[in-house]
Amino acid sequence: MSLLSLSDVGIGWQDGPPVLEHLGFDMATSERVGLVGPNGAGKSSLFQTIAAILPTRAGQISFDGTPVRAGRFNPKLAMVFQNADDQLFCPTLAEDVAYGARNLGLPAPEVAARTTQALAECGLTGLEDQPVHKLSGGEKRRACIAGALVMRPALLLLDEPSAALDLRQRRNMIDLLSKLPTAMMIASHDLEFLLELCPRILLIDQGRLCADGAAHDILSDAALMAQHGQEVPASLARG
Ligand SMILES: Nc1ncnc2c1ncn2[C@@H]1O[C@H](COP(=O)(O)OP(=O)(O)O)[C@@H](O)[C@H]1O
Ligand SMILES: [Mg+2]
Repeated sequence: MSLLSLSDVGIGWQDGPPVLEHLGFDMATSERVGLVGPNGAGKSSLFQTIAAILPTRAGQISFDGTPVRAGRFNPKLAMVFQNADDQLFCPTLAEDVAYGARNLGLPAPEVAARTTQALAECGLTGLEDQPVHKLSGGEKRRACIAGALVMRPALLLLDEPSAALDLRQRRNMIDLLSKLPTAMMIASHDLEFLLELCPRILLIDQGRLCADGAAHDILSDAALMAQHGQEVPASLARG
């Protein structure tokens, strides 16, 4: 059984035009999938639809064997927003990371254990009492991931996790994500980042899924990439 399954899904906002139509793909447990597409292609809209924030216009989404219904929150499916400041709101890092576990109604020792573990997985041990506004951009981004991990999700949706990170923070992010056993879908314009993390790529453009396959095959296809406003990453370009 697939962890996530989309069948003939239509996505759009209120009365606006369709963002994506006839979208179909499956994801397996622990699979890492990169989501590529030009600005406005619908990456963030797709994430919000899978995360049950935005209702589908057509088709079916099932996660973990259950139909996804907008408004019905599933802690096994965690979305990490592009802008960390949209997600962090508690006075200290530890409180922020603990929030999701506390919200699940878990006993205090379990909340504490999960928080300690999530902070460690995200390289944030020692910063527990820091006010979130004092964290660096990379730390904030990792704090958001820690805040998702406390819920022990089976699927993480990561929206542009490497955007605006310096090289060291970007490398930290690759190390952190590559060690997690969780299935994840990563939307990014950083194709080298995706190439390191995701064996599989979905390419969306002009309202549809244009390619779904092995990252190396898709990202090295110069004609396909050019057709959709992308460039073959330098590590795959032939000299
Ligand atoms: N919160 C929103 N309300 C209304 N329309 C939105 C919202 N978010 C995105 N859109 C629209 O959905 C389309 C796809 O945008 P988006 O999903 O943000 O693309 P991407 O993440 O690939 O850049 C765009 O036309 C955008 O204007
Ligand atoms: Mg986006």
